[in-house]
This record gives sequence, C-alpha cells and structure tokens, in this order.
Amino acid sequence: MGSTTTRTFERAGRLTGTVSMPGDKSISHRYAMLAAIAEGTSQIHSFAESVDCQSTLNCLEMLGVRIERQGNEVVIEGAGLDGLQAPAEPLDAGNSGSTIRMMSGILSGQPFRTVIGGDASLSRRPMKRIIEPLARMGARIQSSEGGLPPLTIEGGDLVPIHYEPPVASAQVKTAVLFAGLYAGGVTEVVEPHLTRDHSEIALRQFGVKVERQDSTISVEGRSRLRAQELTVPGDISSAAFFLVAGLLVPGSELAFENIGLNPTRAAILDFLKSVGGDISILNCETRNGELAGSVRVKAGPLGGGEIPAELIPGLIDELPVLAVLGTQTENGLVFRGAQELRVKESDRIAAVADNLRRMGAKVEEFPDGLSIPGRQQLKGAEIASYGDHRIAMAFAIAGLVADGTTSIADSDCVQISFPAFYEVLAAATQ
Ligand code: S3P
Repeated sequence: MGSTTTRTFERAGRLTGTVSMPGDKSISHRYAMLAAIAEGTSQIHSFAESVDCQSTLNCLEMLGVRIERQGNEVVIEGAGLDGLQAPAEPLDAGNSGSTIRMMSGILSGQPFRTVIGGDASLSRRPMKRIIEPLARMGARIQSSEGGLPPLTIEGGDLVPIHYEPPVASAQVKTAVLFAGLYAGGVTEVVEPHLTRDHSEIALRQFGVKVERQDSTISVEGRSRLRAQELTVPGDISSAAFFLVAGLLVPGSELAFENIGLNPTRAAILDFLKSVGGDISILNCETRNGELAGSVRVKAGPLGGGEIPAELIPGLIDELPVLAVLGTQTENGLVFRGAQELRVKESDRIAAVADNLRRMGAKVEEFPDGLSIPGRQQLKGAEIASYGDHRIAMAFAIAGLVADGTTSIADSDCVQISFPAFYEVLAAATQ
C-alpha cells in the first residue's frame, strides 16, 4: 500500500439504512483457486472487492490461468488439475496470508518450481505451519530464516497424510486439503478446534468428495473438479464493523442483506446477542452450500463479559472491533486463548492495546488476549493503523463514539478487505 492518507472521525449522530458489504474474502479466495484447477469455465458473482483477493487472481494468472474480471464478476477458465504452467517470475501474494498459505497447497502438487512471497507484513508471518505438512506430503519447500516468506516450492506427486495441525487454522487445513487433491489416496486433517469450513464446502461444490467425521476432514486425491457458477455472500467480517457501530452509536438502526452466516464464521452474532445486542436474522437460505441471510441491528445497552475460548476461532478476525465495543459495555470484555492474533497482518493484541490507550482507555494485555474494562469514555486521538486493515476499521468505529477528533494514519490499508469502507460508513452516518 505505502499510502499515508490520514482520515478523521467525529462523534456520529446515528447510523441508519441498508449497508452493502463486499463479497466474502475467504470464500472468494477459495472459489478462485478451485476454479483455476477445475475443468471448464467458472463464473463467480459478487467476488470480493478486496486487494487480497486480487492478489490471488494475479498469482493464478501468473500460473497461466485465463481470468476476466469486470467489477465483482469474475470468469475463470479452468486449467484442470494438471494444467497450471510454471510462472516466469515469483508470485506476489501481497498482504494476503490466505493467498500464500492456500496457494502453497496447490503449488506443492505442481511439477515445477515456484517462488511465492509478499509485502513486509506478510514477510513476517509464520509459514512453518504449512511447510511441515506439505513437506511430509513430498513437496520440497525452502523459506527465509525462521520459516518466513518468500517460499520456494518444488512440487510433484504427493503422498496422502493424516495431519493434526498444532494450531487451529483454516488456512493450514486448506493448504493440506488442496495439496491432498494431488495425492493418490485420502488425505486427512484433524482440527484441534473447529475452524471456518469454506474449503470443505467449496471443494464439494466443485465435485470433490470431502467428508467430515467428528473433527477429521478427509479429501480424496486426484478427483476432477468441474467448473461452477457461484455467488459469494456478503462478508460477515466486514459487516462486523457496522454491527458494532450500529449497536454503539445511540439511535442507530442498520440493515444488511445477503450476509454470509456460515456457523463457523457467525460466532460474532451469537456473542453480541449473548451480551444483549438487539440483532435479528431474517430470510436465511443456503446457496452453493453456504448459509446467508439478512441481519438487522439496533443500538442499545450491552452487558459485556468474557468471550468463551471455544468461540475464538469463529470470530478471530472480529476481535479488534469487539475490543472497541468492550469499552462501551457495562461490564467490559475479556478474551484469552487468542495468541494467533499476534501473528496476523499486525500483532493485533499490541495494536489494539496501544490504540485504546491512545484514546485514554484502560486495558490489560495478556500474551493471548486482552481485558478491557467497560464504561470508558474514549477520547479522540491519533491512531496508528499499523498498516492493518482491521485495526484501521476498528478504530474508525471507535472514533464515532469518542469525544473530539480521531485521526487514522495510513487509513487506505482498508483496501485489503473493504475498499469502500469509508464511503459506506459516510453514507450510513448522519
Ligand atoms: C482465514 C482464516 C483465518 C483468518 C484469516 C482468513 C481463511 O486465519 O484469520 O483472515 O480464509 O481461511 P488462520 O487460518 O490463520 O487462522
């Protein structure tokens, strides 16, 4: 990004209307990657606007896949399981952990060498978690010191494995399942905690046999993928910022349509309701295997409390904005067991604690979480986004309930997941 655009926020009157969310980022990555190795031409509607998902499309094009994109409509001519071509140059995953990790699964099955890396933030993110299982399957992978990107992957025929990842990560699970497509036999992943299951659903949509038994997911190798026409639901992780704004800014009432409500992603709704949030869900339906529906939110008092550890993987990306919400609750908010937050686009535990303190709030930092007392009046401050889209958006929302002016440096980093964030926020704000 490298941009230094600073934006300012003042206390908001109220937020109203129907807010339109971008297509889900997680699902868009998966549809694009699977369409690229399917047979035939896939059409993807409401593809995510995010720069991260464009990084995935760019990498696929470098592998010889023909892609046409017009706004959020994407057409991908599948190359088939064995039709990708050696790229002329290193692949650039930009800021996207999903791109490098999930794509590495596919690259591990290719009979050529690929280099894949990304920006400064991505170059600090741990890759041993995928290198280890993919190497066990037969890929030869070199990394920078400490298991960091860029990765050089020499793939080929793989062997199926039974893998129990030490961290609960949908990206790791996906890397192994996608590599499993290139292994003769059945590859199994045992999840330590349930994580988002978009890959399992998407693989099935493309015609691959995927099964789940308790916490073990299995995929059958060498299955042929068939092209699909798919529609991506709205991104609940983007909606999270507006859900919190709608609850916190007095008098607000917001509506969201066609939001992804996959139970492995929607823990934020359960949590917000459990602390007294006035949230209703309507018109649920399943499309392409993914649950979606409309959501309404109304401002009102919130109790607060502890986020149960088992909910953490299901709302990991929503924790920065939930921390902001915590300051406005009656009893505050505590969460533990979220050490993974330290290795996201930024160290999100440190970034949230720093920015809450800049706004005059008290917060206690643990290695794996935060404790945020409630009933705190935030004060406008200069916020550091740390170049992290979710930190910038969380603190833009904090600015709506703070006294005085809140300014966010490097605010354009929201492009990573939600390029229209500021426009949608301005349109909803009175
Ligand atoms: C994602 C999984 C999560 C999440 C990330 C997207 C995915 O990461 O934080 O934003 O699309 O699979 P981990 O798999 O590292 O937990």
